[in-house]
Amino acid sequence: MRAIAIRRFGDPDGMEVIDLPAPAPEPGQVVLDTEAIGVGGVDAVIRRGTLAGYGFTEGLIPGSEVAGVVTAVGDGVDASWVGRRVWAFTGTGGGYVEQAVARVEDIVALPDDLTSINAVTAGSSATVAHFALAHARFAPGESVLVRGAAGSIGIATVELAARGGASTIAVTTSSSERGRRLLDLGATHVLDRSGAGDPSAPESFDVIIDIVAGDDLPVFIDRLAPNGRLILVGLVAGPPPADFGIRLMNSFQQSRSFSVFSLDSVTVAERDRVRAAQFAATARGDLHAVVHDVLPLEKAAEAHRQMDDGTVFGRIVLTPN
Ligand SMILES: NC(=O)c1ccc[n+]([C@@H]2O[C@H](COP(=O)([O-])OP(=O)(O)OC[C@H]3O[C@@H](n4cnc5c(N)ncnc54)[C@H](OP(=O)(O)O)[C@@H]3O)[C@@H](O)[C@H]2O)c1
Repeated sequence: MRAIAIRRFGDPDGMEVIDLPAPAPEPGQVVLDTEAIGVGGVDAVIRRGTLAGYGFTEGLIPGSEVAGVVTAVGDGVDASWVGRRVWAFTGTGGGYVEQAVARVEDIVALPDDLTSINAVTAGSSATVAHFALAHARFAPGESVLVRGAAGSIGIATVELAARGGASTIAVTTSSSERGRRLLDLGATHVLDRSGAGDPSAPESFDVIIDIVAGDDLPVFIDRLAPNGRLILVGLVAGPPPADFGIRLMNSFQQSRSFSVFSLDSVTVAERDRVRAAQFAATARGDLHAVVHDVLPLEKAAEAHRQMDDGTVFGRIVLTPN
């Protein structure tokens, strides 16, 4: 089967098409023929080598979510899964393949009226957004800032905050066109990456969901209201500066909180329950799966080039055929 490997960390040219033997399921696993493969921001972070010190090595196959039809199950797995169309989490890699392997607890059956492309677009992102807002103890009537809102996690956070009754939803983006699209999805104020650009936006926010991190993180800690909570969900701009904790301590009297959030800290059963509900909401059109582009699997490097160029709104999806 065809697969995409990261031969060397760095630019997208370090990715290559390889040929691998068809996988066989181990106990507790399923194998599926992929119909759609989500290209996540985390794939680009891994490919750039940002996480090279965290157990990621050259030669790995990127991709963490796929949708397709189960073709085989391992010992201990209900054989009735065979032939069913599912969404699957493949771990922190292993998704850019024609035949993917997943643990049975990491698959969710798909409703007939949800396409595989839309499933991998809503998939992890909407679930991360849901639990990140819950981690922030977001409540109706509160103001929210989504930093790095033009990616699939950010878009889902904007929609869920709007549905959850946020009083204000400010977003950061480098593109006025992407800003207009975020306004259509429920944002109320569009800011540039530095947090400026709309004088009518509030100075401070009850909740900040931050997908970016990087050197500017302290600027956004300063934008928290008293008792405000900043939840760091991603680090597309790299890790925070070492002194960001000092900025937090400087406003000790305002009882601000900083926390990281990883979906790994949520039980699999809870994740699957929320994901199944979100798939149903997406099929009904209550949540939007924003697909930026659909490309053949062998064009994975082109997908990553678009991610690096910063032109993506939503999700790029790869298809094996
Ligand atoms: N916590 C979890 O459980 C979990 C799960 C999955 C993934 N993640 C993390 O989430 C991140 C990917 O999320 P995603 O796919 O939604 O994001 P993404 O599409 O890669 O990026 C989101 C947006 O950030 C902005 N951006 C990019 N570089 C920036 C920079 N240097 N400074 C400021 N803004 C910048 C871009 O928008 P503009 O150009 O419009 O500004 C981009 O659209 C990764 O870090 C991944 O590790 C976390």
